[in-house]
Amino acid sequence: MAETLSLIRPDDWHLHLRDGAMLAGVLPASRHFARAIVMPNLVPPVVTARDAAAYRARILAALPEGQDFTPLMTLYLTEATDPSDVAAAAADGLVTAVKLYPAGATTNSASGVRDIEAVMPVLEKMAEIGLPLCVHGEVTDPEIDIFDREAVFIERVLAPLRQRLPELRVVMEHVTTRDGVDFVREGGSNLGGTLTVHHLILNRNHLLVGGVRPHFYCLPVLKRETHRQALVAAATSGIGRFFLGTDSAPHARATKEAACGCAGVFTAPNALPWLAHVFEAAGALDRLEAFASLNGPAFYRLAPNAERIRLERAGAATPAEVATGAGPVVVFDPGFAPGWHVME
Ligand code: DOR
Ligand code: ZN
Repeated sequence: MAETLSLIRPDDWHLHLRDGAMLAGVLPASRHFARAIVMPNLVPPVVTARDAAAYRARILAALPEGQDFTPLMTLYLTEATDPSDVAAAAADGLVTAVKLYPAGATTNSASGVRDIEAVMPVLEKMAEIGLPLCVHGEVTDPEIDIFDREAVFIERVLAPLRQRLPELRVVMEHVTTRDGVDFVREGGSNLGGTLTVHHLILNRNHLLVGGVRPHFYCLPVLKRETHRQALVAAATSGIGRFFLGTDSAPHARATKEAACGCAGVFTAPNALPWLAHVFEAAGALDRLEAFASLNGPAFYRLAPNAERIRLERAGAATPAEVATGAGPVVVFDPGFAPGWHVME
């Protein structure tokens, strides 16, 4: 049994860093990642190239001295987004992707997209220039059960969009169902899928049996065990179009432990130990590097990182919470130890 693991330094292809008082507090938690796709669902959202440039500057200003980290910026797609603003931001290297939130699907998604028809000119421009679209794949139709929203989104929105615009490069983010895994697997080279650490470890029983666990509540919501198993199979399959996007989503403790708690799990501090745990349990530690460090850059047409990191067995425990200017944020804890630790 290997006692240490050496990996090309990973990237996080889906991360929430927030802003203001929270930002500086959560940035160090992503220090083992070289780059991250930074989500634009701030209040107000990061809609224009100008917004993205300003947010990027705030992130860089809040980085602790010595943390080598490149934020890869995204724009929040609205029905008023201007295709030429997006194209200019991409040409300047300012943005790496555009994010589609169906309006009302999740945290701060009120300005998202109601009618895909309204954003077709932007999507056509993105297809033309090769700029990826990151998709929160859930319908918001109140008639659709929350556990079915991903599958129905594929049927109603994603499959038709892929048919209509096959050249558009799409990342189906935080895939949580077997349906999503199958859809990504059967898609061509223009379709990728990210998987979170918490969806690889937890199912909906963890969220609901024996009491409601607000720190396991996220969107898309945790699904039944058969779906979790499909996610683990996808992550460890060696298929290059599946890669790590933690969706680490910090919320202050008080806003999670509330009558109407926020969605999001803060996994940045221990995502890599938990990922090693999942891959080891699946007998696939030899595929961890591809999932965490190689497949994402390949999809985004970027070089893998030059540095390496090392994990060792056991080692120091992760702190239970991280202090931020917006209050303490509880760190992901499934109730046992991952058995791995990133060496500093
Ligand atoms: O659980 C989630 N939290 N899912 C999302 O899609 C958004 C995120 C957040 O921003 O808190
Ligand atoms: Zn997210």
